[in-house]
Amino acid sequence: MLEDLRWLGIRWDEGPDCGGPYAPYTQSERREHYLEAWRRLRDSGWIYPCTCSRKDVAQAAGAPNDADDEPLYSGKCRPEKSPLLAQQTREKWGTQRFEAPAGLNWRFRVPDGEIIRFTDLHLGPQCMTAGRDFGDFIVWRRDDVPAYQLAVVVDDAAMHITEVVRGADLLKSTARQILLYRALGITPTDFYHCDLVRDEAGVRLAKRHDGLSIRKLRQMGCTPEQVRAGVYNLASAMNDHPSVTPAPRKLIIAIDGPAGAGKSTLASRLARKLGYVNLESGAMYRALALLAIEKDASFDDEAALVRLAEGASIQLEPTIGGNRTLLDGVDVSSRIRERDVTEGASRVSVHPKVREWMVAQQRAMGVGGGVVMEGRDIGTKVFPDADLKIFLDADPVVREQRRMAQQKITGEVAASVAAELRERDRRDRMRAASPLEASADAVTIDSTSMSEEEVLARIEELVKRKQSVKVS
Ligand code: DC
Repeated sequence: MLEDLRWLGIRWDEGPDCGGPYAPYTQSERREHYLEAWRRLRDSGWIYPCTCSRKDVAQAAGAPNDADDEPLYSGKCRPEKSPLLAQQTREKWGTQRFEAPAGLNWRFRVPDGEIIRFTDLHLGPQCMTAGRDFGDFIVWRRDDVPAYQLAVVVDDAAMHITEVVRGADLLKSTARQILLYRALGITPTDFYHCDLVRDEAGVRLAKRHDGLSIRKLRQMGCTPEQVRAGVYNLASAMNDHPSVTPAPRKLIIAIDGPAGAGKSTLASRLARKLGYVNLESGAMYRALALLAIEKDASFDDEAALVRLAEGASIQLEPTIGGNRTLLDGVDVSSRIRERDVTEGASRVSVHPKVREWMVAQQRAMGVGGGVVMEGRDIGTKVFPDADLKIFLDADPVVREQRRMAQQKITGEVAASVAAELRERDRRDRMRAASPLEASADAVTIDSTSMSEEEVLARIEELVKRKQSVKVS
């Protein structure tokens, strides 16, 4: 393949044949990197051994759900979900099997029902449901090599890859890989999936169908110039307007600020206007607080809270004009606005380990851009490289009044709700872990005497400016 690419006139700065800062580049020489990731996944209970053969899996799955993708795994070897999974795996399989992956397939347990979202730089917003669009997938094969999904995630992270370009047949694998990135606590790359080139019968060109390869064209007597011209013509034909300017860049927009500054309304309106996904990070802290209430865990017990978070599925699902928050698949969007949860969210969010978990999830949601995320630490911690950072502030009295009006509260209740709001604000600003503060490169907007329309117009202007900036 390297030889064919060189013939075609393509050159590279790093690689197996010329070395580079992240050598070695040959997969078989990078085993230690993959093993380290395998150990981390094993110890955190994300993966489990599976003895099913390919044939077992194909038979159990029945009709293929997607001819180009692997069948859904039936879950035959999948153990019960448990925080002690790693320990149970060791007990069941013995220390030798536990210490080295060889001899068994190791599968990643996907969070059933969770919607994995990302914005593809070419194909736009994507969403796939774990357990339905794809099932538990192999990360280490019984013949003792890492599976594709694990190898690419580990390599791309180790080699500081920022953008992956590949065929659209791998879109679903992106969702799998996002889960791996998340489980390993790594920020995913951006993804650009190209339209597929197909043959006359509509079948995508692929090695296994003996599709037309560069080697074949070469053997047929084509010159590199002819092949390059052919690729260009093909790309032009696949694109209605080959010479139009590219679509505006999909940005990551971070909106931070204290409660009552108007972040939520603004983020939602802005996202709708831009066709972006609106993610309200506070809802995730709220969902965890609700879970703690339901499970009778203390808001002060950091370890218990992290265990709860890891064992649960907390999803933010964008809807038309808003967000839904799902906790283990149940819509808790209204419940999490109640006073006990509001107070709990403020308390669970002070713990560094809770925040670490939240930040990893939130980063995965921003893959590919096209996201407006609001919260307290989005510009400082979640997306320190966000394209646009807004710090939305307002006079405390005005913020309190807005909150009361929004919740239609008056009288004595209003006074105590206002006092709670002040206390939460204080906690947000004073906590040691990621306190609420404006990132140095954020644009601060004081909305005290501005209407919603005015704030929105101001931000839209900033977005336009950012979109027109050319990135190299
Ligand atoms: O924005 P909100 O009121 O729904 O947030 C609920 C709580 O979570 C709030 O007390 C602050 C905290 N939070 C945080 O610490 N970091 C975020 N990114 C978002 C919210």
